[in-house]
Amino acid sequence: MYFSAELKNRIDTIVSEHETNLSALLPVLREVQNKHGWLSKESMDEISEILDIPASNVQNVATFYTMYFTEPVGKHIIWQCRTLSCALKGAEHVEHYLCEKLGVKIGETTSDDKITLMEAECLASCGTAPAMLVDNTLHENLTKAKVDKIIEDLKNE
Ligand code: FES
Repeated sequence: MYFSAELKNRIDTIVSEHETNLSALLPVLREVQNKHGWLSKESMDEISEILDIPASNVQNVATFYTMYFTEPVGKHIIWQCRTLSCALKGAEHVEHYLCEKLGVKIGETTSDDKITLMEAECLASCGTAPAMLVDNTLHENLTKAKVDKIIEDLKNE
């Protein structure tokens, strides 16, 4: 077994809260990702065994949703909105600035493994565009100064 007893117990609880094992798949994937940071093949294989769902189905679901990571990612994830309102308010400039500042392209992780930069569709904060999500925190009305402060805080953690 690859998972800790604690994680296995948490998965059992999630399964008990759902009518079918298939309906527990998304929250189980989220739980495992929260614990391990990403979903390795070993993790997905173990989820497959626990839920008695074919491994290919687990992998298909994990790779379909952008918020599941099937490759290692940084400690923090920046989701930079690229949708219309943010685009009209300069998201492209914010993205270029982030890439330059972090030394990465979209989808890449900084060399210190601290930050992964991703593109996102609308974050439901169009009125305060441009916006980005850092882990679970929304940052709005982005400027270079705000981006500088956000990155500085993340790097100092
Ligand atoms: S378009 Fe960026 S938050 Fe809606």
